Amino acid sequence: MNQVKDIRRVRTEQEKADALFVRRRVFIEEQNVPESLEVDEYDRPEAPTIHFVAYRDGKPVGAGRLRVYDRQTGKVERVAVLDSERGTGLGRELMLAMEQTARDEGFSQLKLNAQCHAQPFYEKLGYKPIGDVFDEAGIDHIAMVKSLRD
Ligand code: COA
Repeated sequence: MNQVKDIRRVRTEQEKADALFVRRRVFIEEQNVPESLEVDEYDRPEAPTIHFVAYRDGKPVGAGRLRVYDRQTGKVERVAVLDSERGTGLGRELMLAMEQTARDEGFSQLKLNAQCHAQPFYEKLGYKPIGDVFDEAGIDHIAMVKSLRD
């Protein structure tokens, strides 16, 4: 049977809980990011953050969020795919869905802070590194940007 993948902009409490389930598994349990850093003010119900969740066969397997950085710039954060689903193209599909939403929301560029190990993943999607490597939650990161106008 074909595996059914479904990437959604979060619109319900259940979808948000599913996105947070994936983020907890990946960032808190796998990468040991403290919960107090992982779940922040941009996750509050009143925050204008746009959350995303990916399902395979009805089970949550991917997540990410998009928030306002400045008037023209969206910031992509918390991109996560469950370990068992990596290398299947899901992360790329999730990013493309987030980029389409960012365009629809009127952003002309996207920014993100990539974990250095994931830099090639973002480069393949057209993101360019800017600035120096920095530490966040004990993990090396590099800022990356992509124009949505190209
Ligand atoms: N290093 C080098 N290349 C990578 C890579 C990595 N860590 N992860 C993915 N790629 C490449 C793939 O080989 C693929 O290349 P191809 O198009 O030439 O075949 C392309 O990027 C797309 O890969 P995809 O299968 O869509 O990625 P994924 O579903 O495995 O998701 C992450 C990638 C980074 C989201 C996933 O590994 C993950 O959740 N990691 C843990 C959390 C994390 O670190 N998130 C990033 C926070 S900044």
